[in-house]
Amino acid sequence: MAEKKLMLEIAPTTAKPSVKVTVVGTGQVGMAVAYSLMLKNVASEIAMVDINEDRLKGELMDLQHGQSFVPDVTITGSTDYAITKDSAICVVTAGARQHEGQTRIDLVQKNVSIFKNIIPNLVKYSPKAILLIVSNPVDVLTWVAWKLSALPRNRIFGSGTMLDSSRLRFLLSQRFGVSPSCCHAYVIGEHGDSSVPVWSAVAIAGTRLRQVSPKCGLEGDPDNWDQLHRDVVNSAYEVVQMKGHTNWATGMMVSKLCGCILRNEHRPFCLTTNVKGLYDMTESTFMSVPCIVGENGISHVLLQALDETEKAKLIASAKLLLCVQKTVVL
Ligand code: NAI
Ligand code: 2OP
Repeated sequence: MAEKKLMLEIAPTTAKPSVKVTVVGTGQVGMAVAYSLMLKNVASEIAMVDINEDRLKGELMDLQHGQSFVPDVTITGSTDYAITKDSAICVVTAGARQHEGQTRIDLVQKNVSIFKNIIPNLVKYSPKAILLIVSNPVDVLTWVAWKLSALPRNRIFGSGTMLDSSRLRFLLSQRFGVSPSCCHAYVIGEHGDSSVPVWSAVAIAGTRLRQVSPKCGLEGDPDNWDQLHRDVVNSAYEVVQMKGHTNWATGMMVSKLCGCILRNEHRPFCLTTNVKGLYDMTESTFMSVPCIVGENGISHVLLQALDETEKAKLIASAKLLLCVQKTVVL
């Protein structure tokens, strides 16, 4: 054999240590996630699952052909969930996406049906994994996945308003000419139309925005900061209208989050979780609040000192999501 002629074996090789991340869905979002995971060297193994076999195989081969340019990673793909066995994190991006004029909430029942197949299979093969939900409407689907998986609260969460927060940080960075990483801003509540910007906590390079713009986000704000939040809400619709989908920012977001989990970094991100007990909320509603994340998933929820306007908006967002949760047939 050619291998024997090329190399003299001195000792048997041992298996490489494996950190496996599964990505379900090889559409626009799933592939942006996989690509970003590869580039950022987040996992040693990426397992891809989709029901569309041709698409899965084509995407898999395309990624594999670039493996000589990125850090070592094993990429596998199958329609069979056995391939996901022993994943540390399972990211769910499968399902219908919005078309022009649709809201995220419009996708709910279609994607609930898809989740009934996906979630039990992931839990069966990786009972110790963290489940990260990305498919929309992400808040309601995270609740659905929680119900279907029966996983503890720390190990099942959604990407929530991490993207909305990043969009706000970008817009603030443009306004101030300061790097987005130095613009601290949280958007909480629904990932979508009823999301809530926490203006009381926005800080640019360590200085609170309300120090220089005291009415920021409040009635009669001369600087009209709320327009920035309206731009955040509209931006997904704008991108969908122009290119048909959003994907790159989500890919970068998920790979950042997976890296922080696997490196046990204890970083805060706005993620979809059960908010029962927070801000006088008495029901198991799933939506975003800032959470500290590490290898055990969500270890803490940050108790932000919201002002009265923010608190009222958050409770309204929760009410809206709870109404949708209640329409779901599991
Ligand atoms: P897409 O249509 O490009 O891809 C969806 C993929 O899911 C397809 O490859 C399809 O074959 C697969 N799929 C469908 N049913 C399946 C099943 N039962 N099992 C396995 N795979 C299945 O859609 P795209 O653009 O990738 O979006 C995916 C989802 O992500 C949508 O719900 C979208 O709204 C959401 N999204 C969420 C974001 C967030 O921040 N949470 C950001 C961007 C998109
Ligand atoms: C986004 O905000 C559509 O949820 C998706 O980009």
